[in-house]
Amino acid sequence: MKKTRIIQLCFLLFAVAFAGCKGKSGSEQAGGAFTPGELWPDNNGVHINAHGGGILHDGDTYYWFGEHKTEGTAGNNALVGVHCYSSKDLYNWKDEGVALSVVTDDSTHSIAKGCILERPKVIYNKKNNNYVMWFHLEPKGAGYSGALSGIAVSDKVAGPYKFLRAVRPNAGSWPTNVQDIHKQRVPESDRSKFTGGSLPAHPDSLNLLGRDMEGGQMARDMNLFVDDDGKAYHIYSSEENSTLHISLLTDDYTNYSATYARFFPGRFMEAPAMFKRDGKYYLIMSGCTGWAPNAGRSAVAPSIWGPWEELENPFVGEGSDLSFHSQSTYVLPAPGKSGQFIYMGDRWTPENAIDGRYIWLPIRFEGDQPIIEWQDKWSY
Ligand code: DGJ
Repeated sequence: MKKTRIIQLCFLLFAVAFAGCKGKSGSEQAGGAFTPGELWPDNNGVHINAHGGGILHDGDTYYWFGEHKTEGTAGNNALVGVHCYSSKDLYNWKDEGVALSVVTDDSTHSIAKGCILERPKVIYNKKNNNYVMWFHLEPKGAGYSGALSGIAVSDKVAGPYKFLRAVRPNAGSWPTNVQDIHKQRVPESDRSKFTGGSLPAHPDSLNLLGRDMEGGQMARDMNLFVDDDGKAYHIYSSEENSTLHISLLTDDYTNYSATYARFFPGRFMEAPAMFKRDGKYYLIMSGCTGWAPNAGRSAVAPSIWGPWEELENPFVGEGSDLSFHSQSTYVLPAPGKSGQFIYMGDRWTPENAIDGRYIWLPIRFEGDQPIIEWQDKWSY
């Protein structure tokens, strides 16, 4: 064999071997299809690190923001911050780096390294021509007792974001649908019987709303929703996760407006994801079982303020009782397909947080009922 032929052959073998390596790190999902549950490599061949995430569609580009997880169980805490990726087609994602970094030189800071920073979402604010990020924040070392909302802003979509504050929602204000029972005092001894679990506790008789009225309501799993009129809402699990709250934000999207309402008392809904279809509002949510999957929930309403009607588990078919081993994080209008939506969920791997997978599936409707069926591979 001629020398040049041998060199060509060596080059070919090297190229094949290199492509094989990339394949092992999971090149399946990139390209022109979604393969739920597989590794999803970014432009560098690294599995996307944006858990509990959401999408901002800005111009002709999609931005995916999510929790940057690290290895092991320690990786469930925020050791890095919020990661951002960009894409033109939703299949292929470019690493845009860390959009919001945790603070490494002050362990008392609200977003100190080691805090819990979950479910970050970003929306564009027209009034100030800037980007506003909200996330569920638990200060370092206090477990999930803080139940705070963190807010950060940036003039550039991919950041860096500047941390503004951490707050409990709507301190000093009652919801629009407050009941008389909430204005009565409940002895602390009665409340201590409440463990905050997923048991059918009675949040109204324990009056967790009244307990937190002055200091601000609890806010854990959360999402944002911007309506067609530009009004933005924060949707979050409150009252020890027992009840969902929906709060109107101020015009600059960086604070609560004090207008809010509570829904599904005692239903322990987590992971709320809101979307609008043909003038109706929809929610896809989960039950409340920590990192473990459970059966999904769904609801519909003619107005964001209700009345909300709870529907069926939107997941259908084998594995639907565990939402195909996923938990909702966002619902995205399908590009160029009016009235069609993409379910985005997380398949958590708390024993090795960084390995968490993404379950993206199409949503179809039977009447008002959203339906999500499993597909190994699909394109919109
Ligand atoms: C379920 C929530 O949906 C997650 O965001 C996270 O808070 C885990 N619970 C923690 O157990």
